[in-house]
Amino acid sequence: MFKHEKIEKNATLMLVLSFLVVSIGGIVEIAPLFYMENTIEEVEGVRPYSPLELAGRNIYVREGCYNCHSQMVRPMRDEVERYGHYSLAAESMYDHPFQWGSKRTGPDLARVGQRYSNEWHVQHLIDPRSVVPESIMPRYSFLLDNRLRTDDIARHLEVNAAVGVPYSEEMIAEAEADMRAQADPEGDWEGLLARYPKAQVGDFDGDPRRLTEMDALVAYLQMLGTLVDFSAYRSEENYR
Ligand code: HEC
Repeated sequence: MFKHEKIEKNATLMLVLSFLVVSIGGIVEIAPLFYMENTIEEVEGVRPYSPLELAGRNIYVREGCYNCHSQMVRPMRDEVERYGHYSLAAESMYDHPFQWGSKRTGPDLARVGQRYSNEWHVQHLIDPRSVVPESIMPRYSFLLDNRLRTDDIARHLEVNAAVGVPYSEEMIAEAEADMRAQADPEGDWEGLLARYPKAQVGDFDGDPRRLTEMDALVAYLQMLGTLVDFSAYRSEENYR
């Protein structure tokens, strides 16, 4: 009793002791994470982004799409019914930076992949109001005019590898060729598909002759949420 009174009446002592208590709490919570092999449960199907998808993701970040769109389906019934299975941590384990977000001026995009055709996405990005009349989304038609940079994609893979994404030397060496092949309907996709299973190939922007930023962004949108096979799960049953 008396001893505690002493602490309460001495601001410096109180501060030092509080700091001590908080530090111990912090260390107990944080330190084990450094010693665990893996803090994220691995899930079958999750792989690093293909070079074209990664380029699309960079455009997504550059254009600030995250200001209006989240990429995380929360484990709540209304969300699961609208968007599909709630997001798993492993699904964004290769995201640097992650795109979870909480701002939803537009819908969540974590599972938008393969929900619409490529043509729909291109039309929607050129002029959102031509397909959704009440939309307030800005137009991104200039992406069709921007040729996609290919010379720096290997560097992007390297940088991701440096922060822990398992891009192999082969993936980095083939990055530029893989990027072109994925957007080429007559391309040679064998190597690409071996390196990036389930990668969707073909012309994304409606013009097979040109590789544009639209190709990359649509390739990225079309793969979102498609890597994990959820047909074995029934998410509704888990959250009823
Ligand atoms: C100012 C806010 C805003 C920004 C910025 C924005 N969007 Fe949207 N987006 C919306 C709204 C609102 C909708 C719903 C109406 C519609 O479909 O157009 C939407 C819808 C979408 C849809 C359809 C989703 C679905 O499930 O129907 C996609 C895909 C999409 N946006 C992609 C993007 C991409 C990619 C970018 C960046 C290049 C972007 N948006 C930037 C507001 C925004």
